Amino acid sequence: MTIQWFPGHMAKARRQVTEKLKLVDIVIELVDARIPLSSRNPMIEEIIGQKPRLVLLNKADMADPVKTNQWISYFEEQGITALAVNAQGGKGLHSIVQSAKDILKEKFDRMKSRGMRPRAIRAMIVGIPNVGKSTLINRLAKKNIAKTGNTPGVTKAQQWIKVGKELELLDTPGILWPKFEDQQVGYKLALTGAIKDTILNLQDIALYGLRFLEAHYPERLKERYSLEEIPDEVIAKFDAVGKKRGCLMGGGEVDYDKTSEVIIRDIRNVQLGPMTFDMIEEIESEEE
Ligand code: G4P
Repeated sequence: MTIQWFPGHMAKARRQVTEKLKLVDIVIELVDARIPLSSRNPMIEEIIGQKPRLVLLNKADMADPVKTNQWISYFEEQGITALAVNAQGGKGLHSIVQSAKDILKEKFDRMKSRGMRPRAIRAMIVGIPNVGKSTLINRLAKKNIAKTGNTPGVTKAQQWIKVGKELELLDTPGILWPKFEDQQVGYKLALTGAIKDTILNLQDIALYGLRFLEAHYPERLKERYSLEEIPDEVIAKFDAVGKKRGCLMGGGEVDYDKTSEVIIRDIRNVQLGPMTFDMIEEIESEEE
């Protein structure tokens, strides 16, 4: 899905999320496990405010499992419960209900002590495009879409999806915009497929990817492109990969756009193995 984010669209998206927030007990914030910070909306804290929240690190099947655990601890240190899930394959989804119950225990206990009838937890999913919101909703929905016509405060009937007996989910997610200001974030969003037809230069994205691989997963880079050594020089790096993959122009010269496409596609399709692009160490060094 391509969305052009202009200030007007951002304001509308924000308004829609804020409106729906009133209907739910908890927000399920979906991020991409490969870029748990870069795939967050820059204003998420402000938009969600005090509303309880569960963070799901989706696409965990494509991320580095060691790093995913580090990120879960990172969120926990901030007092936020986070779970690694794979909305496509279903792994980890069974923990969502229990985690939501744990987060809301006090509120629901309080409601019970005031004599209110027990009811299901109400939740909504939010996240930037392509993090897997629809996949998750469809996966959880199975055949459980329930119509509830007159929810106070909304003119349009909201559809709720029953997830077991204890959770109800709004059937439409809140779509928020990604971070645009930081170029590194842009490269990471492009390499993970969060932004596809990108305004960034193809060769710059591929070079960012190559440098990242060289720094963090050099053996995988060598293996994928049958390289004995990784050349130091930028053009030599592209030449080495381009030649191995047959990305050549008529005269036998390396076609750098084609080579860039191959590198980006390989990273997006996990051809170099599961990887995580956001590093905890990066924030720690920024904080220092
Ligand atoms: P959105 O609603 O947040 O915009 O995202 P959506 O569910 O459409 O998911 C975006 C893409 O990510 C989909 O691929 C979907 O299959 C994939 N996806 C979602 N969750 C997971 C997951 O846990 N693991 C993996 N590996 N993939 C996941 P798509 O529609 O086929 O798009 P594309 O493959 O053409 O990019």
